[in-house]
Amino acid sequence: MRDFVGEKWLAYQGFFEKASEIALYYGFTPIEVPILEQEDLYIRGSGDSTDIVTKELYSLRTKGGDRLALRPEFTPSFMRLYMERGMHNQQQPVMLMSYGPLFRHDNPQKGRYRQLYQFNLEVMGSDKSINDALVIRVLSTILDEVGVKDYTFEINSLGDKDCRTAFKKALVAYYRKHNSALSPRSKELLKTNPLRILDSKEPREIELRDGAPNSIDYLSGASKQHFKEVLEYLESLSIPYKVNNALVRGLDYYTRTVFEVVIYQDAAVDPTNPTPEEAAKQIRIELGGGGRYDYLAKTLGSKRDIPAIGAALGVDRIIETAGTKELMPRIVKPPKVFFIQLGYEAKLKSLIVTEILRNAKVPVMQSLSKDSLGMQLGRAEELKVPYCIIMGQKEVMENAVIVRLMETRSQELVKIADLGAYIKKLK
Ligand code: HAM
Repeated sequence: MRDFVGEKWLAYQGFFEKASEIALYYGFTPIEVPILEQEDLYIRGSGDSTDIVTKELYSLRTKGGDRLALRPEFTPSFMRLYMERGMHNQQQPVMLMSYGPLFRHDNPQKGRYRQLYQFNLEVMGSDKSINDALVIRVLSTILDEVGVKDYTFEINSLGDKDCRTAFKKALVAYYRKHNSALSPRSKELLKTNPLRILDSKEPREIELRDGAPNSIDYLSGASKQHFKEVLEYLESLSIPYKVNNALVRGLDYYTRTVFEVVIYQDAAVDPTNPTPEEAAKQIRIELGGGGRYDYLAKTLGSKRDIPAIGAALGVDRIIETAGTKELMPRIVKPPKVFFIQLGYEAKLKSLIVTEILRNAKVPVMQSLSKDSLGMQLGRAEELKVPYCIIMGQKEVMENAVIVRLMETRSQELVKIADLGAYIKKLK
């Protein structure tokens, strides 16, 4: 698990700020859910055959004997919160957002961390296709604003309760026929979650996928219509998408619409001597994913179904892709003046002057622990600050400071009482 310092911290903060602003604009309400919940919420919610539960869950037993787990995703907590608060009595749909750390005990590598960060959105209490489009719209606006280029939404429909059973049956029959070609993991999945075999990265199983039944062919009339509408929305919004029939996602609760937003990047190859295959190799980076989960509520004990759709962006991967340029948080302001103090009397006054400038909303930088003029001026030049305020013994006596324009070195004596207004007027 990583520490974030300096630019990195700022980039995450900047991302959360920008993404929150966009989601709030579209009507999402920010919430905070606990980092630690009952383990059972994830076993039932995320699904007991998923990787994040079987392999990656950080679980613990408390001294009182409760089994808890660090959250591996947000979605089950959002649904728990909706149910506990009887949010079905509110105006539907309920649109909620959150962001923060999640924990998955995976093999750490670039783009895959044990403490990862997501920006998560859920629209709960409506099965209308416009909500699927809305979630995708918000994700794509966020990606545009933070400077991610050439992303595509890969999208599929897994069907509803009725069509899923027939599709699963056909899939099991197909893979049973090819049982000898299956990996031990897929043989296991055939019993627990056959859809996930479509997700396999094994070359033999990727080949097998071409002949496998296609969920789209099994869609009920209602699911087909829903999927068609979602695609029409994306078309009319000019959001880049591609139907990907092999997309099933790694969580158990999905029904109907599923999607991932991806970019393809050249694989890192030896640039001096790549083979043609190496040169052509592209890696798929999944920046985010989501989908509908119309039946999750009942799995968590609700008496009624609560149709819902949501998605999460992988913030770590987005920052690695987009860089950090566009992500400066608003609380960080480039300094307009550098405050230089000379001598103990001036140091005594320094934090008073800083506070005057803060009240006047003038961003200031200083090196209060430095004493020499040269060192402080040097720092001001390094930071390319246009103005310096210099306060020595003499200025303290006069209740004034020298304001120096760094470019021309022209200076003026300004009374402290007038300082805020004076600096604000400067360009
Ligand atoms: P997910 O596909 O498991 O979906 O995660 C969403 C995104 O989080 C991924 O697309 C990826 O960018 C990022 N991510 C996942 N694991 C890691 C990791 N170990 N390190 C860095 N980034 C990672 C969900 O979590 C669902 N709850 C999304 C959702 C919300 N579906 C409906 N509503």
